[in-house]
Amino acid sequence: MNKPLDFPVGVNAAPALQPQVGVSRAHEAAHLHVSGEALYTDDIAEAHGTLHAALGLSPLAHGTLRSVDVDLLRRQPGVVAVLTAADIPGHNNCGPLVHDDPILADGELRYLGQPVYAVIATDRELARRAAAMAKQAIAATPLPAVLTAREAHAIGQYVIPPMHLARGDAAAALASAPHRLDGEWAVGGQEQFYLEGQISYALPQENHALLLHCSTQHPSEMQQLVAHAMGWQSHQVTVQCRRMGGGFGGKESQSALFACIAAIAASRLRRPVKLRVDRDDDFLITGRRHGFDYRWSVGFDDEGRLLGAEIDLISNCGHSADLSAPVMARALCHFDNAYWLPNVAMHGYCAKTNTQSNTAFRGFGGPQGALAIEMILDGVARRLGLDPLLVRQRNFYRDGQDLTPYGQRVEDNQIQPLTDRLVETSGYHARRAEIAAFNASSPVLKRGLALTPVKFGISFNVVHLNQAGALVHVYTDGSVLVNHGGTEMGQGLNTKVAQVVAHELGLPAAQVRASATDTSKVANTSATAASTGSDLNGKAAQDAARKIRQRLQPLAARLLGCGEDALVFDGGEVRAADGTAAISFQELVAKAYLERIQLWSDGFYATPGLHWDRAKLQGHPFFYFAFGAAVAEVLVDTLTGETRVLRADVLHDVGQSLNPALDIGQVEGAFVQGQGWLTSEELVWHPQSGLLLTHAPSTYKIPTANDMPCDFRVALYDAPNAKDSIHRSKAVGEPPLLLPFSVLLAIKDAVAACGPQRCDPPLRAPATPEAVLDAVDAVSR
Ligand code: MTE
Ligand code: MOS
Repeated sequence: MNKPLDFPVGVNAAPALQPQVGVSRAHEAAHLHVSGEALYTDDIAEAHGTLHAALGLSPLAHGTLRSVDVDLLRRQPGVVAVLTAADIPGHNNCGPLVHDDPILADGELRYLGQPVYAVIATDRELARRAAAMAKQAIAATPLPAVLTAREAHAIGQYVIPPMHLARGDAAAALASAPHRLDGEWAVGGQEQFYLEGQISYALPQENHALLLHCSTQHPSEMQQLVAHAMGWQSHQVTVQCRRMGGGFGGKESQSALFACIAAIAASRLRRPVKLRVDRDDDFLITGRRHGFDYRWSVGFDDEGRLLGAEIDLISNCGHSADLSAPVMARALCHFDNAYWLPNVAMHGYCAKTNTQSNTAFRGFGGPQGALAIEMILDGVARRLGLDPLLVRQRNFYRDGQDLTPYGQRVEDNQIQPLTDRLVETSGYHARRAEIAAFNASSPVLKRGLALTPVKFGISFNVVHLNQAGALVHVYTDGSVLVNHGGTEMGQGLNTKVAQVVAHELGLPAAQVRASATDTSKVANTSATAASTGSDLNGKAAQDAARKIRQRLQPLAARLLGCGEDALVFDGGEVRAADGTAAISFQELVAKAYLERIQLWSDGFYATPGLHWDRAKLQGHPFFYFAFGAAVAEVLVDTLTGETRVLRADVLHDVGQSLNPALDIGQVEGAFVQGQGWLTSEELVWHPQSGLLLTHAPSTYKIPTANDMPCDFRVALYDAPNAKDSIHRSKAVGEPPLLLPFSVLLAIKDAVAACGPQRCDPPLRAPATPEAVLDAVDAVSR
């Protein structure tokens, strides 16, 4: 895994002997994570006089807010102030796109758990005690609540107008197809369950300004929304984030509510204010992955080739728009997954319900779109009595020829060769036969097998977000500090960016350090999201480092007595390619400083070639596609409904990896996280009150180490990105979350072994033991 790769070396005349990219390096803060020394927002030493905020939550799913008994709350021990919507100096909004998201409820109560007031007290316990008096303090009149997306869809209640994406004539293709399958299905939402909960710590600064430490994937948006809420200009607000203890999309927009409250309280009281929410409140206040309902009709031929498809996708958005529109756009752009759909009509409905406002979660609608086609193809294969793998392969996009429904050509398509290799290395066909034999002689325990592929578009669907900036400082001792617009949430972005800078300057990794994300350093940054962190910030940092190197080259050439194009920056020194002369990097920069050469630089990157028509849902939204596939084998106990992943083989395309160890970690983590979504993580709202009943780990089951596939074989598909991405790598953060579709479909395969030939088990997702038993009952009746 440590083998150095032969990289394009920029202006280096000869390849580096000690490349810093393409090599496995530990996460730059791994030793701090495991020793407990890593500083998260709550670990920052509290400034003198720090106050603590807690939120009072709506006890109703829907209602008219008549009043808040502020006096009652003020009388509680330790309470310094109570804030309601009336105390917000600027806009009462923390919604990112559509400004429909109140920071504190104003007039209407929209969901059970909505923040209605904030209590600021001398310590956190006292703040929480007073905040918890919501039932006494809030006077409200209940209104009928809409709790499910289906109900909302039935009455046409949406957060944004319906979206349609069509190509060809789906209706005609359905009418003339030899076979037709109609189906309905649903997949639940998913809680991000970042280990570090939502938190913001606001410190007033001189002359009407604020410093905000915030656990957020989007410091620039926090800065803007806080400024709007304060009625301020952006330059009055500085947002810093050293790291998050996980974000997974949940801190892209939804860190804003907490940032705004802490900021408003701090500036009003002129005291530092911290707002750290309890896990239960985090569940009750914030949204998560959108659950989706589907209704489809597909037409296909005798071989299982899809001729026409029409589908309704109904997402449960909750009470406000948040990021639901781009999430639905990505769902529509990923319904095709790896398959050519000649005639297709997709209709996306963003249902408005009286629940938490759903938001980004790893994959951002992509998983919900692609899962639908995988369920459909599985159904088609079962109807025809074919191996689902064969039906998938027959529907694969052909390389470079086919257009996606949104009009982008599928270039550099790795799906066929990648799948072929995985079929081979996983022993798919032999195991299929083995499993059939096992099931024939095993009445209670059943095994199942499935292969599912992934094609995932990389870039933000919104063109202008695909930009990034960085600052690289070289100090006179030759050490380097890099700052960029991305945020670190455990994915290893800082490690990768530091590797890129080290490689560019030919330095050992230890000579480069990444500093905390800070809106006063790089301005107007995009969220660290859509898996683009290293693509964008890596390129921006490379640009900055390259500028510094170019400024150093004339001096180095003069000192070494060679031409600039014969210079090699490598291993902490600069040498002539023929090996005749060398100077240490440290000596070179010390001399450069004396010659008044600028030793720091900014860098910028904007992804080329993107265009997107948001109204028509057509264009070229993605710089490239990342591919992958997984084979999962499961064992199902048909008497208890319990399941176990016996083995998973993954082959995933990260282009030419910047850091194979980190990439494999991302693939493994995403796989298990997606497996949790589809097998154990179930969200349940009380059907009358609208209370989210599963608001703690006691009832909401994320996967643990015990749920990992017993035999887990993850390999990287080592083909350089055909596009000029950072060192020809590919984004890795989200695409592998789709790999465990194979687990769900393997469970379905095992359940099918309980029924007659060609049965199609109605397995729900998540495939909890209850869902598995229901499906077993349905096919064995
Ligand atoms: N990995 C860890 N450890 N923690 C996280 O919060 N978030 C995921 C993914 N991997 C996440 C993670 C999500 S949702 C995205 S979009 C990407 O990381 C963001 O980082 P990147 O763009 O640098 O890959
Ligand atoms: Mo990731 S869902 O794009 O933060």
